[in-house]
Amino acid sequence: MTLLQVMPDDAPGTVLLRTDDPEKIDAELRSSGARLERWPLAPAGEPDVLGAYRDWIEPLRRRGGYQLVDLVTMAPDEADPDWPEKARAARGKFLQEHIHDEDEVRFFVSGRGCFYLHVGNRVQAVVCEAGDLIAVPRGTRHWFDMGTSPGFTAVRFFQREDGWVGDFTGSGIARLFPSLQELMTP
Ligand SMILES: [Fe+2]
Repeated sequence: MTLLQVMPDDAPGTVLLRTDDPEKIDAELRSSGARLERWPLAPAGEPDVLGAYRDWIEPLRRRGGYQLVDLVTMAPDEADPDWPEKARAARGKFLQEHIHDEDEVRFFVSGRGCFYLHVGNRVQAVVCEAGDLIAVPRGTRHWFDMGTSPGFTAVRFFQREDGWVGDFTGSGIARLFPSLQELMTP
């Protein structure tokens, strides 16, 4: 379920807004310059994922000047004894507040992840699921929680090859706010 929870940035336990209505989520995000789109899902198991979404990807790519479109997948591998450590490392990488000098644009093909946008004196936590495209404007303070057992496939759009590189703010704010799991089970 796509979900938005808005909290004051100095009171993580206070819920200002909580909704699973995609139109309300988009309206709220647009007040921060971000947006949420819903794309129709291609049949599951389609081997050429980028091809399956070509009609949606190409117009966005042209509009946004995205040079690079790729797929990122995190999938639990129970057979890999190092998986828990790899999952922790992958999760930790983006679990601290950072900014980018280009928009962060992701389309969730499957699975789930939560973006936290720190805009003004509020934090907007957006749980994205299959069919959600989120666009976070450049320069927006944010972090991302893929959960303790990460599992998702997402299309990423970049204006530059190193567009995913984060500039960390040094703030410890992220650890004060509810995790992806906590948001899903309030
Ligand atoms: Fe980011």
